[in-house]
Amino acid sequence: MRNNITLAEWLKQARIDVNTFRPDETSSSLHAILEHRTGKSRAWLLANPQFPLEEPLLSSLDFDLQELKSGKPLAYILGTWDFYGLSFCVSPDVLIPRPETELLVETALQVLAEKKNARWIADVGTGCACIATAIAFLRPDIHVLACDLSFSALKVAQTNVQRYILEGRIHLLQCDLLNAVEVRFDLICANLPYIPSSALQKLPELRCEPAMALDGGEDGLQLFRKLLSQAKAHLADHSCILLEMQFDQADALRQEAGLHFPQAEIIIKRDLAGHDRLLIIRT
Ligand SMILES: C[S@@+](CC[C@H](N)C(=O)[O-])C[C@H]1O[C@@H](n2cnc3c(N)ncnc32)[C@H](O)[C@@H]1O
Repeated sequence: MRNNITLAEWLKQARIDVNTFRPDETSSSLHAILEHRTGKSRAWLLANPQFPLEEPLLSSLDFDLQELKSGKPLAYILGTWDFYGLSFCVSPDVLIPRPETELLVETALQVLAEKKNARWIADVGTGCACIATAIAFLRPDIHVLACDLSFSALKVAQTNVQRYILEGRIHLLQCDLLNAVEVRFDLICANLPYIPSSALQKLPELRCEPAMALDGGEDGLQLFRKLLSQAKAHLADHSCILLEMQFDQADALRQEAGLHFPQAEIIIKRDLAGHDRLLIIRT
């Protein structure tokens, strides 16, 4: 067993052990692990390279290092991840919230700002409830029905809803899209699985996340079609649907949306990387 190695020595050895082609990312991940395990800020860690690492802290750090080396995503190692300025509990039962999904939240908040009487929104495929929580946290007048087919994802969602004391306004439900739901919504938000099944098999970097959160069927649009066919019965007058999509799905999804909502205004929004990312249907 190693004894009393310093923080700088542990970091130096860990960087060698992980040995990736992305040294900056590795360094940032190792600092995040150190912050998480020591409870100290990054500034403190940088200012105290001679800090001695003792047991049981050292064993915890070594354990996390092994996990990182094995390819486990940092979010699952830390058990928490930031989204829209809030911190969310995550586990391998849920998708890790992505920065591009912040566009959906930002747009939802804009839509709600225009609709003064809006009260009910749906977050379909809520996962860890990052979308539902971010919106409900910033809009105290809004109720969210946050549904998911995965019971284990809903357990993670519940932790996050409780963390922000939103149990009174975020209503978690296990169901298949909006099946069995009777509410009419002013806004339906959905970040559904949209990666075509065959493409998913070629993306080893996603192997640790639930297939159920990623796999969109043969062409990636399977769940969109199903939700669009259900949505009309669940919309209030002059309402809106926001669907996150893969960068190359805009034309196909616009066409699908047009079949179900021929009178609606359909808009595509791009993310910060310039990729088509969000389909907006205004009925
Ligand atoms: C891409 S993840 C999005 C998670 C979260 N909303 C986010 O943006 O990080 C899709 C979610 O949809 C859920 N899901 C998959 N099929 C579903 C279905 N038929 N009905 C409801 N939810 C479903 C998955 O369990 C997963 O949590």
